[in-house]
Amino acid sequence: MKVPFVDLKLQYQTLKHEMLPAVERIMETSQFILGKSVEDFEKKFAEAHASKYCIGVGTGTDALHIVLWALNVGPGDEVITVSHTFIATAEAISLTGARPVFVDIDPVTYTMNPLLLEKAITPKTKAIIPVHLYGQPGAMNDIMAIADRHGIPVVEDACQAHLAQYDGKFVGQFGVAGAFSFYPGKNLGAYGEGGGVTTNDDALAKKMRMIRDHGSDKKYYHAIWGHNYRLDGMQGAVLGVKLPHLAQWTDARRAHAKVYTARLSGLGDIVVPAESPLAKHVYHLYVVQTGNRDSLQSYLTEREIGVGLHYPLPLHLQEAYKDLGYKNGDFPITEKVAAQGLSLPMFAELTHEQIDTVIGAIEDFFD
Ligand SMILES: Cc1ncc(COP(=O)(O)O)c(C=O)c1O
Repeated sequence: MKVPFVDLKLQYQTLKHEMLPAVERIMETSQFILGKSVEDFEKKFAEAHASKYCIGVGTGTDALHIVLWALNVGPGDEVITVSHTFIATAEAISLTGARPVFVDIDPVTYTMNPLLLEKAITPKTKAIIPVHLYGQPGAMNDIMAIADRHGIPVVEDACQAHLAQYDGKFVGQFGVAGAFSFYPGKNLGAYGEGGGVTTNDDALAKKMRMIRDHGSDKKYYHAIWGHNYRLDGMQGAVLGVKLPHLAQWTDARRAHAKVYTARLSGLGDIVVPAESPLAKHVYHLYVVQTGNRDSLQSYLTEREIGVGLHYPLPLHLQEAYKDLGYKNGDFPITEKVAAQGLSLPMFAELTHEQIDTVIGAIEDFFD
């Protein structure tokens, strides 16, 4: 049995009857950019994360960039994040002219190690971006305690962590803002590009809304200069249809993860993902570690089981960031997870048979 890594077509089939009228409405009203569908979605997405505001933007990368921009991060500044993330986290920093400073991750949660964070802070540190990677929130109580002690704003990269919680609070509620991606494959995905920022800060929300739309809050009057980071009306409509289903999809992901974890624990040298005791992990990705990663990857691929690597080369070793001067060995945990991590099929609509097939194939591999 073939098992795809993710199946977006299947989800569409279940939503078609709601989706087509919503999208048609956009064409009939011609509200293609921002407009009511985006405003409605922003309001509901903010509510879903217990946040005062959500600002819809073009991508998750825009979401991260717009917060740093609104915080006046710029040339000469440093922003601390992790090397074990998608490159967009660091690009958002580079786009402001600031320098990304990496710290290693915790070996169990794969998120920013707060003990290393404190050591990386310098007088130039203007912001800290913990990444709620794979859907697991970072150690936000510890990170916030350090950041608050130094008076440094925290921007949460929640691009993979819609509805995730830490210590009973939604992601995006710890720092000054949370950045979300609505890339199609995300837990909440648009039918194209999309992103959003949540915040409780009135002034920051106002400024980000302006930056998103060329620095204006009145058409053709520009108090500051900004960019075009507006969310499409069509994507607002799509996301508005999908959002009411997100909690149930998240429960399904968590249930699938539970089955994987119960049956893969103790198999060969597999290390299953650990949910930190204070976290509600939303399993955007289900990533196991094994010293036999490359051969397991080939074995599953040959059996038409979709797998992925998130991410095979850490940012500090990427060609694009060679100017930062990092070298192999600088972040040993990050490097180990990059070499050993394998993402298994994970999406809400996975069936018991499909999960069984994946687990059976992994059992066969270790036999
Ligand atoms: C951790 C992380 N940060 C940022 C982004 C950027 O989001 P987008 O692709 O919507 O620009 C992504 C998306 O892949 C991500 O996974």
